[in-house]
Amino acid sequence: MKPLPPPDAYVNGTWVATQRRYAVVDPYDDKTLVEVADCDDATVDVAIAAMTKVAAAWRATPGPERGKYLRAMGDAMLANEARYAEVCTRENGKALKESVGEVKYAASFLLWFAGEAERIYGETIPASRAETRIVVTREPVGPCALITPWNFPYAMLTRKIGAALAAGCPVVCKPAHQTPLSALLLAEAAHDAKLPAGVLNVVPSRDAARIGTKFIASPAIRKISFTGSTKVGMGLMRAAADDLKRVSLELGGNAPFVVLADADLDNAVAQAMIAKFRNTGQSCVAANRFIVDASIADAFTTKLVAEVAKFKTGHGLTDGVDIGPLIDDNAVVKVRRLVDDAIEKGAKLVHGARPDGNGFKDGKAVEPGARIVAPLVLSGITADMAVWREEIFGPVVAIRTATSEADALAQANDTDAGLVAYVMSKAAGQRFAEGLQSGMVGVNEGLVSAAQAPFGGIKHSGLGREGSRHGIEDYTNLKYVATKL
Ligand code: SIN
Repeated sequence: MKPLPPPDAYVNGTWVATQRRYAVVDPYDDKTLVEVADCDDATVDVAIAAMTKVAAAWRATPGPERGKYLRAMGDAMLANEARYAEVCTRENGKALKESVGEVKYAASFLLWFAGEAERIYGETIPASRAETRIVVTREPVGPCALITPWNFPYAMLTRKIGAALAAGCPVVCKPAHQTPLSALLLAEAAHDAKLPAGVLNVVPSRDAARIGTKFIASPAIRKISFTGSTKVGMGLMRAAADDLKRVSLELGGNAPFVVLADADLDNAVAQAMIAKFRNTGQSCVAANRFIVDASIADAFTTKLVAEVAKFKTGHGLTDGVDIGPLIDDNAVVKVRRLVDDAIEKGAKLVHGARPDGNGFKDGKAVEPGARIVAPLVLSGITADMAVWREEIFGPVVAIRTATSEADALAQANDTDAGLVAYVMSKAAGQRFAEGLQSGMVGVNEGLVSAAQAPFGGIKHSGLGREGSRHGIEDYTNLKYVATKL
């Protein structure tokens, strides 16, 4: 086993062993990897105090200098890819090749923002009075709290850390309780890069609500960036309003994957495989609702099933495995509920088996591998099925047919979510994209995530953008100075 990071909190530049600990487990078999710090309020207070103390110095550090630390962290990730990937697979369960992909993806944010730290431009604006000059600069918002999920434990953090540190904001990070080790490895990289004490803090805990409440209550914290469920995001925004903290929210999706009649079917299937099965479907940008023109639905489904049948399931570290376990019992129970509901309401199982709860007792996994859900394909989906409204977060393809382009668009927009949408078409892609209600669109493309691009949603999928130059803007305030000559 490759070495794990210190299983402690990382606060004010040092590793802090808290008295309370909790077990981080392998989701495949519940074997304990390590007992990690379960931060008490006092440790969180030390982290907030450390950020507050260092904020002025970090803000005054020139952008190119700040970028150097980010570059060192990104380089460390890439140089130690095998270790980072193994740690991720052990605590998250995803197949090793997915973890390798995630390490590269996560490092790309650090490297991108290392460059952007040099380009936090302001502007000058021609004034209406001859003797006046208008100068606009961007200043860091101040200390930030970053709350991240377990599905991409490195990338969801580096996308926030990279932007915040580049902008000049110190951070305290609360990783998901299932995956603190990835966050602590990033803290190790920051430590090795000699990032000044207090600029980056990591406070693992099993109790996300308590830590979130501490962040909200602290007047020192000027921004909260959260990736996770829509329900929790809305609650955070309500709570943050009392102190008018800035809030960035990357919340749930319910992505339509539209295949129009003129699509190149081979490409549509190849993109569908990425959009659906990346990270075993446990992604906010996973294709959730396949909407396929009725004239090509059979052909598309047959080709897709041929690809899905090739998947190998098992422990994420086993050679050749594509699909590891889902993250926890609740995830499996949810997928089973969605599949059962769809089949009971008339959906047809065209590939795979209905997950039957083997290896589960009283809603809990009791056998190794019980959390593996083998990929399955359902057709005949209708709008009254729960699978149409809820994020599946599992390897389930749910196909509904459309009678025309207009019908497909209406179906695609039939959701409160608006994170990403995909459309496969030789001729109509751009036109269709313009009608889609989502923050991101993949046209003949099943993977939109990239450090250079603004990631984020509309409607109930969130506020703000991450990645790209817009990602930094979310961590800055505009300051306008009017000078009389
Ligand atoms: C997510 O699932 O929240 C993000 C996935 C990505 O960055 O591609």
